[in-house]
Amino acid sequence: MKLSGGARTLGSLWLVGLCALPALSQERLPASAVASATVTGSVERGRALLANRQDSGCILCHTVPGMAAGGEIGPPLAGLAERASAEQIRQRIADPRTLNPATVMPAYFSTQGLQRVASAYAGQTVLSAQGLEDIVAYLLANTRSEPGAPVRP
Ligand code: HEC
Repeated sequence: MKLSGGARTLGSLWLVGLCALPALSQERLPASAVASATVTGSVERGRALLANRQDSGCILCHTVPGMAAGGEIGPPLAGLAERASAEQIRQRIADPRTLNPATVMPAYFSTQGLQRVASAYAGQTVLSAQGLEDIVAYLLANTRSEPGAPVRP
């Protein structure tokens, strides 16, 4: 199944994660803010993107509530909606280097400072703006320990 949210395959994604240098471009576009301003996320599309290893790869490194399989390189995402705001989650996925310059997590919505990206993918983000918002919507809706607990704005 081909999902519209994934603009690049996992192979290049690993390259991005492993080869991105800590020294980042000075330009910090608020790309994640642009994504949230232009599109509305869908929990169901977010679920499909998260579950598909080719499109996002998140579950290779994280356990995610509602997903059967998950990796342990990154922290479990259970309880995320209680410890992070929507904008913090969006920022983390868009470009985790802004929070941890040495991170192994790929930058999913940035084309800045990426090294050795295959030429066919140069200038493309891993996730589309829509895909980013869909994943944020899923995580906000499904990572609360109490189903009825309030979500941070
Ligand atoms: C290569 C492994 C890897 C992949 C793939 C990955 N992450 Fe991460 N992620 C990490 C690590 C490691 C951390 C811990 C912070 C750090 O080291 O930068 C993290 C941190 C996070 C956090 C913060 C967790 C918290 O408790 O505050 C969120 C949210 C997150 N990742 C979401 C995602 C999503 C969504 C995807 C897919 C779009 C993804 N990650 C893909 C490794 C990964």
